[in-house]
Amino acid sequence: MNLLIATRGWDPQPWVARLAAMLPGRRIDTPETLSDRASVAYALTWRHAPGAFEDLPNLRAIFSLGAGVDHALVDPRLPAAPLVRVVDPDLTGRMSEWVALQVLLHHRQFRRYDRQQCDRVWDEDENQPAAGHVRVGVLGLGEIGLDAAGKLKALGFAVAGWSRTQKRADFPTFHGVDGLEALLARTDALVCLLPLTPDTRGLLNASLFAKLARDGRVGPVLINAGRGGLQVEADILAALESGVLKGASLDVFETEPLPQNSPLWTREDVFVSPHNAGLSEPQAVARYIAGQILSFERGEPLRNVVDRARGY
Ligand code: NDP
Ligand code: OXD
Repeated sequence: MNLLIATRGWDPQPWVARLAAMLPGRRIDTPETLSDRASVAYALTWRHAPGAFEDLPNLRAIFSLGAGVDHALVDPRLPAAPLVRVVDPDLTGRMSEWVALQVLLHHRQFRRYDRQQCDRVWDEDENQPAAGHVRVGVLGLGEIGLDAAGKLKALGFAVAGWSRTQKRADFPTFHGVDGLEALLARTDALVCLLPLTPDTRGLLNASLFAKLARDGRVGPVLINAGRGGLQVEADILAALESGVLKGASLDVFETEPLPQNSPLWTREDVFVSPHNAGLSEPQAVARYIAGQILSFERGEPLRNVVDRARGY
């Protein structure tokens, strides 16, 4: 019942150390150290090299080290074992922190006052709206979207959300294609917390930006922490140039790391972070995965298993 962990871009050692402490008596291999493929019952992935999990005859489950699974599903040779994603309060809370920070950054004109401080300028906006005048639209009302929406609502923002299926919440919710248009028409700050699937790829494009509200006191601005494949960066840049968008906060990019020559790096109306809105903290996520393995071996069902046909 050993584990195989395959990552690209992340050092596997902090994970190996924590899992070894939580699951004593088992080998935790990386592809480089693995010699006995038949001993592997669980595969753990963050952007594993395609084919890394082939020929594991006793594989029982695959665990993503993050909430998203697009990085695993791109492997055409991914075994058919159940694919489990991270749903953990530590990760969810980190994502909501980043989202709240970005909504407030645009709402309270952080970049403007930061520049003014550098220039020793004392100039206040006498028309600064309160949060209740800012309409936030959250795309994706899953584990993270619902948490972030609830926290933004607690801050006083006029929150609404959109998902594939109808949701009940204590704020307006929309679903499906028609619902998206209705949400956009009442949105000043668009927060994207969708997974990357064949249906959502390229959704954040020029046609969508043109449907955002134009009568708000803030924005429209785009805030994306879902995945880079959801956004068309050329369209974001064009929309910023033309004024269709007033600003953007991006944690994820079409190509990561963001290429040195991307114009997004140097724009004052764009906030860039290096895909760390919701860090997968090894201690918290290892505890979640070890807990799932132990309960599964006691006969309980795996939780948060991905629907591969839907892609999330
Ligand atoms: P969930 O699976 O819990 O929620 C996904 C939400 O998206 C659901 O509400 C779902 O609708 C909705 N959705 C999916 N497809 C569509 C569609 N075609 N149209 C409308 N709505 C759709 O995921 P999480 O909330 O846990 O995570 C969301 C994403 O956040 C992850 O997939 C990952 O890409 C990203 N992420 C990024 C991180 C970062 O550091 N930047 C960290 C963690 C996650 P429904 O409820 O109807 O099924
Ligand atoms: C995730 C991520 O999916 O960190 O958890 O992007």
